[in-house]
Amino acid sequence: MNEPHAAVVAEEFVALYGREPEGVWQAPGRINLIGEHTDYNDGFVLPVALPHAARVAVARRDDGVVRVHSSQGDGDVAEFTVDSLAPGSVAGWAAYPAGALWVLREDGHAVPGIDLHLDSDVPFGAGLSSSAALQCAVLLACDDLLGLGIERPRLARLAQRAENDYVGAPVGVMDQTASLCCAEGAALFLDTRDMSQRQVPLDLAAAGLVLLVVDTRVEHGHADGAYRHRREGCERSADLLGVKALRDVEAAGPELNALLARLPEPELRRLTRHVVTENERVLEAVRLLDDGRLRALGPVLTAGHASQRDDFAISCPQSDTAVDAALVAGALGARQTGGGFGGCVIVLTEPARVPGITAAIAAAYAARDGWNAPAFFTATPAPGARRLR
Ligand code: GLA
Repeated sequence: MNEPHAAVVAEEFVALYGREPEGVWQAPGRINLIGEHTDYNDGFVLPVALPHAARVAVARRDDGVVRVHSSQGDGDVAEFTVDSLAPGSVAGWAAYPAGALWVLREDGHAVPGIDLHLDSDVPFGAGLSSSAALQCAVLLACDDLLGLGIERPRLARLAQRAENDYVGAPVGVMDQTASLCCAEGAALFLDTRDMSQRQVPLDLAAAGLVLLVVDTRVEHGHADGAYRHRREGCERSADLLGVKALRDVEAAGPELNALLARLPEPELRRLTRHVVTENERVLEAVRLLDDGRLRALGPVLTAGHASQRDDFAISCPQSDTAVDAALVAGALGARQTGGGFGGCVIVLTEPARVPGITAAIAAAYAARDGWNAPAFFTATPAPGARRLR
């Protein structure tokens, strides 16, 4: 299915640079089933790779010059040298491939000049990890081409470092690991503390279910400051509770309430409660998938949404409306996925209910002034990053 994509990207490379690429690689976007804002708290996540991917055609150069072109860019070829790379030295979309090369150099590898052509069908700004997909595609291409043999979980850590230190976004490691390590037909159960992971089979069709993805068309453009604020709140809470990370708080019920009471601010209590209960929801979701009880996942997803909305305060009216309309129209469960403040909502339901659910959400949006019309697709768990040719 991806070979046609690879041929197109390779042809575009030839048209741009006047020579054949040495290969074509791709890295997917993701949705997250459950486990939101747990990854920078050393916690658990359960992402699924999408068929949507970033693809990169690459050929090395012997002069230390890097040229980057993207079909989604402004048409220009960005040009810089490997030696000149320093945090923030390249801006805009080209910062992602530049950051990938920078982090390899920082990690001690001899990075040559390189011509790159990128093409992606991961929607930008929709909370589906379009930036991680770009970075992971370039990192995997370089790892392969240069014969570095870096294991994928470590490659994911490098991609995270590029995003943290080169691009300047304080993200966790979920998106990069999902893009590099997911397997077809499975969700990736990842412990972000030690990067241990397991593929958990997710055969939606066999269970008579689908995962509908609703793009709320709210770009999470303001997410950066708000994301950082929440991350800092979690770190402060962990300090105040005397644990390394909030992952280490395992209490529930009255015991959890007693712990929360030790935090001086209501906001810190809410942030902590989200992370602690969200980790528990990931473990519960994994148990349900292992037992083949996919329908029972619905309420776990919906509880995750309520926690994001009420405790972590990262939802928005469009996401809440999509979740509520989906549930009223008979969905088993629904939640906003990704960093928050818009992006996409995932809905677990039977295929027969999809038309009713999409109509209900579209109607609810149409009734509101100034809301973009939502977009829909169904998610099938796709393979992680790989070489296409
Ligand atoms: C963004 C970040 C991830 C993770 C999610 C929230 O996607 O890139 O590291 O923190 O938000 O779960």
